[in-house]
Amino acid sequence: MERFETFCGKLEAMLAGEDGIMRKIENGRELVAELTSRPEWFFDYLRKMVLDPAAIERQKPGIWPNEFTIHRAPDRSFVVLAYIWDAGLADTIHDHGSWGIIGTLVAKLGERKYERLDDGRREGYCKLRETASGVFGPGETTFVLPLDKGLHAMDNPTDGIAVSINVYGKTVRQGFIQFFDPAKNTVTRAYPPRTLKEVLAVKTLAAIDPDRAEGVFREALTSSRPPQLRREYEEALRRLRG
Ligand SMILES: [Fe+2]
Repeated sequence: MERFETFCGKLEAMLAGEDGIMRKIENGRELVAELTSRPEWFFDYLRKMVLDPAAIERQKPGIWPNEFTIHRAPDRSFVVLAYIWDAGLADTIHDHGSWGIIGTLVAKLGERKYERLDDGRREGYCKLRETASGVFGPGETTFVLPLDKGLHAMDNPTDGIAVSINVYGKTVRQGFIQFFDPAKNTVTRAYPPRTLKEVLAVKTLAAIDPDRAEGVFREALTSSRPPQLRREYEEALRRLRG
């Protein structure tokens, strides 16, 4: 893991010394390209994980089940994640809560990038256009910008395992990402498992008994909830009054 630790040190120093987001991405891509040109350090990481199952337990369940959190910078300036892509796995078109750099570590990964053509003001609606596509091998990188400026989908086009190493900067939006469906022109919020359970419960309470649900939602809103959940409760109340 020495290679990885050196990478984190260089990245932290670079990010602290750069203000502009494009410069951070440009310099960061060089460091990620160097890190992902050889996979041995990741073998060591996974070796530790399979020999100490508690290490897997410590991984916080996120939106993507194939995600591994390798490192969080103590100053929260970046996080390094690995995604292990089974043969043929493809994700949904999505946005990100921060800028990101994605490098292929093992095999090949495909990416399609999209531009959002609508202004995002109509709830649940989107119109997208594909702007680029590519396939990346070890040591090659791509990047995303935050929110609507970084819509993409990735996939493993091979018939074996592929791995990407993803670096994300400081979050500008936390708690959820958005999934886009250009065939249906829809956009929906995607939550990590813990939040998703509460959102599904809210929707179901309203479906079973709207009158009693209103009281439950009001009571829930009197206690502390993260902003993305407060919004779900408030929207549910609006729909009840609808
Ligand atoms: Fe992504």
